[in-house]
Amino acid sequence: MTKKIGILTSGGDCAGLNAVIHSVVHAAHHKGWEVLGILDGTAGLLGESPQYKTLSLDEFDGNIMRRGGTILGTTNKGDPFHYPMADGTHQDRTEEIIANYNKLGLEAIIGIGGDGSHDILRRICQQGGINMVGIPKTIDNDIGETEASVGYDTAVMVATEALDRLQPTAASHDRIMILEVMGRDAGHIALSAGIAGGADIILIPEIQYDMDKLLARINDIEKRTQNSAIMIVSEAVKAPDGQKIMVTDSTGAQRYGGIGTYLAEQITARSNIEARTTVLGHVQRGSPPTYRDRLMAMAFGVKAVDLIATGQFDRMVTWKNRNVVDIPISDAIAAYHAVSMDDIMVHTARSLGISFGD
Ligand code: F6P
Repeated sequence: MTKKIGILTSGGDCAGLNAVIHSVVHAAHHKGWEVLGILDGTAGLLGESPQYKTLSLDEFDGNIMRRGGTILGTTNKGDPFHYPMADGTHQDRTEEIIANYNKLGLEAIIGIGGDGSHDILRRICQQGGINMVGIPKTIDNDIGETEASVGYDTAVMVATEALDRLQPTAASHDRIMILEVMGRDAGHIALSAGIAGGADIILIPEIQYDMDKLLARINDIEKRTQNSAIMIVSEAVKAPDGQKIMVTDSTGAQRYGGIGTYLAEQITARSNIEARTTVLGHVQRGSPPTYRDRLMAMAFGVKAVDLIATGQFDRMVTWKNRNVVDIPISDAIAAYHAVSMDDIMVHTARSLGISFGD
């Protein structure tokens, strides 16, 4: 009988997901296997019958892999262990997922996700005796044990290009232009894009800034150079008193957002220098993938199929020294990857005279 495997994307989308799916479909078909794409992450396995589509080779002719997003759909809400029901209660719905997986007759599943998704998927797979291989993706680049995750390189490119576009208008108007970027609690996007995009100031959650030092630095930049400055700030950077700056949606859920506007107000109020903020938001996720993200995505997809072929499960593929290796999923979940103070890019930024506001 033909081997049948499943693939799903879970958590926030990013560039490169379709390139992973393209790679898995091609590598699996090469082995004579069938690939079923589960729709909308684990949500596609809830309810009476599984929501999926058979992924044929014809469909993956080289067009889909160029596109951002995920053709399978995804969700970053609704933990199946604690699923929010319409009546306001929460239920464990993981047995529905296991039952639907078994209905499909799959031999293994490839889960593409961040650390949260890997944790949830792994626990479901252990509970149901499901064979799983994981592929790391997140623009935040905060998954441990891999040098990069799918989507990160593209997000850095988008943020760098945004700085390229902000610099001329900053210079024209003698302003401070602040770019607020995503990344959740990790400052990787701001750090890398800040250096590549010529920022004068980079604020990341891992380095505590001091408002007086920040203002002194801004005044200094204004006096010494072209009367303008560009600054990049990670969304999870806090107010000087340690307060998180969040937005609350209509359901009461909170998410990061607003530190750029907060800093612009503070700077203008305390320095007479005009400041403007651009919040980059989801354009960091929706762009076509860079060549680096495409290559890594394709190499990850092939390796995941190889792991299934050799019966190696509960493994996540990782990027190490331009090579793909596999590690226990539990190791990846356990090792959160924030910006460390001995990161070569922290040293590089400081040596270039870029300020962290500290
Ligand atoms: O984890 C990826 C990410 O893009 C974060 O950088 C950001 O904080 C969050 O997701 C945004 O989530 P949402 O798509 O729910 O707004």
